[in-house]
Amino acid sequence: ARTIYLTRHGESENNLTGVLGGDCDLSDRGMEYAERLGKFVEQENIPGLHVWTSQLKRTIQTAQFIDAPKEKWKCLNEIHAGICEELTYAEIQELYPVEFSNRDTDKFHYRYPGGESYEDVVARLEPVIIELERQNNVLVIGHQAILRCLIGYFLNKPPEDLPYQEIPLHTVVKLTPRAYGCDMVLIPLNV
Ligand code: F6P
Repeated sequence: ARTIYLTRHGESENNLTGVLGGDCDLSDRGMEYAERLGKFVEQENIPGLHVWTSQLKRTIQTAQFIDAPKEKWKCLNEIHAGICEELTYAEIQELYPVEFSNRDTDKFHYRYPGGESYEDVVARLEPVIIELERQNNVLVIGHQAILRCLIGYFLNKPPEDLPYQEIPLHTVVKLTPRAYGCDMVLIPLNV
């Protein structure tokens, strides 16, 4: 059976400070994850593997030690937080308290002013999903909201539950499609 591998990028500079979005570099620890991931992929010895990243630096840097053909997809970029990009949750709560509580009330449908909702992200991921359905073995190196939507799709989760799926950093998610639905295994790489 073919396998879909998914992972978030390694820890970024913004993950360290709690800042949302942006296009920053990996932290030192994130760079260690990139190296571990390169070794993991080599050990798994996956026939015909293709690696897909977003167009943001943190996913491209996470892919750098993997020896396989790579493609950059703009539609794999992280959810765009509009006026809240490059703020922390605490700053959003202080600067835009109404937005903050609206998001909490209906996280799937809530659209950041000048940005996106999870519903928007699901829609723009459609070409990726269609291509994933067609491909053999693929490793997607993405972002928190993106992985939530992709996993939600393959596990047939109700849309309203998507924004809350827990996906730790430095963990490879292995999805194996079965006749009905998918098996999911989480492999922490201990970085
Ligand atoms: O904090 C990392 C991050 O990927 C942000 O870039 C993004 O806005 C956020 O997670 C998405 O998670 P949530 O929808 O829970 O805010």
